[in-house]
Amino acid sequence: MTTNPTLVLGGTGKTGRRVAHRLADLDVPVRLGSRAGTPPFDWTDPAGWDPVLAGVGAVYLTYQPDLAAPGGAEVVAAFARRAAAHDVRRIVLLSGRGEPEAEHAEAAVRAAGVPCTVLRASWFQQNFSESHLVDPVRAGVVALPVGDVPEPFVDADDIADVAVAALSGDGHAGQLYELTGPRALTFAEAVAGIAAATGRDVRFTTVTTEAYAARLAAEGVPNAVAGLLTYLFTEVLDGRNAHVADGVEQVLGRPARDFAGYAAATAVTGVWKP
Ligand SMILES: NC(=O)c1ccc[n+]([C@@H]2O[C@H](COP(=O)([O-])OP(=O)(O)OC[C@H]3O[C@@H](n4cnc5c(N)ncnc54)[C@H](OP(=O)(O)O)[C@@H]3O)[C@@H](O)[C@H]2O)c1
Repeated sequence: MTTNPTLVLGGTGKTGRRVAHRLADLDVPVRLGSRAGTPPFDWTDPAGWDPVLAGVGAVYLTYQPDLAAPGGAEVVAAFARRAAAHDVRRIVLLSGRGEPEAEHAEAAVRAAGVPCTVLRASWFQQNFSESHLVDPVRAGVVALPVGDVPEPFVDADDIADVAVAALSGDGHAGQLYELTGPRALTFAEAVAGIAAATGRDVRFTTVTTEAYAARLAAEGVPNAVAGLLTYLFTEVLDGRNAHVADGVEQVLGRPARDFAGYAAATAVTGVWKP
């Protein structure tokens, strides 16, 4: 294992925070990639990347807002080339399933020459508790432009466990792992699972893309982010990702965590209380 720090990009986010904690528990030195970090890391400021990469041995790479966003592939490729110039020996790249633009970005990162492991993840379970869906759950109505398309929501803790294995163990360079939960649920079933875990009346309803876009605009969500969310709901959630994959079991030798366990453990934290 390297004694150089591991740079965790998105180190304050859903998976990065978990990866950073796990590495610290293993006594691996960690450098947090954050706009509030020291030195700060910002995807929109390439001039600041070199100080963040200095002396780094490995990188957990999560991009914002999404690898599939316009220009994302070019930006992560430029970053990976800087990482190669700094002799970074390993990159673990978080990607999304079923997104051709994200696959283009994966290839661009690999081409930079640093041995790379790709984690292609399904929708995170934690989107319901640590992201854009937490407020709708608290309010009791989750309204999204998606119908009965099943999605095998994955637990961010499983992603972090796999990422740490790939960052610190051997045999993962060049590998692609598809990370999903153990079963696919529709959004209505997922929300019903949260309702059962909290004992609250939380309902799911399908809305039109136009109604969803109008609500995001009214909430002040930036156009780029709103466009991305709409793309993910209306194009990527078309059933192409409905199948379960075995990446978690392949790397960790145990089954992926189920949505019911996530919902029960999250309910007791009180995060979904109105
Ligand atoms: N959420 C999902 O269901 C899902 C599924 C598959 C793949 N993914 C991929 O996972 C990645 C992370 O997405 P996420 O939604 O889960 O977000 P997240 O990791 O929870 O995002 C928050 C993190 O992004 C950082 N960040 C925001 N803007 C930044 C900027 N301009 N420069 C540097 N860092 C910035 C924040 O750091 P600071 O605020 O501290 O700067 C924070 O650490 C994306 O590439 C996404 O495509 C997500």
